[in-house]
Amino acid sequence: MKGVILAGGSGTRLHPLTRITNKHLLPLYDRPMVTYAVEALVQAGINELMLVTGGTHAGEFFRLLGNGQEYGIDRLAYGYQEQAGGIAEALGLAERFVGGDKVCVMLADNIFERSLQPIVEHFEAQERGGRIVLSHVDEEEHLRHLGVAAMDGDRVAQIVEKPLAPPSHFAVTGVYFYDAQVWEVLPTLQPSGRGELEITDVNNWYVERGEMQADVVEGFWGDAGESIEAYYAVNDFVRATWKSSASR
Ligand code: DAU
Repeated sequence: MKGVILAGGSGTRLHPLTRITNKHLLPLYDRPMVTYAVEALVQAGINELMLVTGGTHAGEFFRLLGNGQEYGIDRLAYGYQEQAGGIAEALGLAERFVGGDKVCVMLADNIFERSLQPIVEHFEAQERGGRIVLSHVDEEEHLRHLGVAAMDGDRVAQIVEKPLAPPSHFAVTGVYFYDAQVWEVLPTLQPSGRGELEITDVNNWYVERGEMQADVVEGFWGDAGESIEAYYAVNDFVRATWKSSASR
């Protein structure tokens, strides 16, 4: 399975910090944000990675990650997204890199306390389709800024992006797994109201066909790009939890 880390976008919710750098290069405790996503995928056993970014600071990722060996990456490719056209558009840049393989996509502003390894193994064992990772979020106000799963028992019935009335407490996190069908779905997408190709539309394509599975992840999950408050909440978590962890 290949991994794709998405670190493009304009980061407007963290302006003015992100006027002078890429959001995923901002510090989380003692190192740049993007390194947590790299570490999460490598730790889960995915060591062929592509990093997609854009904007005027793309070169800094190269300086930070180099050819990836320091991070345990066997092969590291880079992609450049010309415009912040959406998560699904950024993923499209990885088609040739992934080839016919399965792919795990991770948004570079997502932080997980728990290992993704069991979920990667579930998808390895899955014959076809997609897989998403859900996290239980208590506050309705928080859910309104995320993709939220409408559930039918254990099954995901639909995903609603930034719902005014969240249909459940299960937020869709920024880790997605797809089979090669994803490359046929991407060209069929239409830009959303915010002018982007939405990953939620890709996910609903799989949901509608009954080919989407889901795991619920325990422990802390945070999207450090959601707001300045979320950025500091993730920073506080990382500092308090991993400060002196021997596992890092
Ligand atoms: O973090 C989880 C949430 O991420 C999900 O719950 C939502 O369903 C999903 O749409 C997404 O929502 P956001 O509003 O947080 O997405 P955002 O536009 O902030 O983009 C998230 C990351 O995706 C960003 O940190 C980098 C990457 N990205 C984004 C855009 C728009 C790109 O690489 N290129 C892009 O053009």
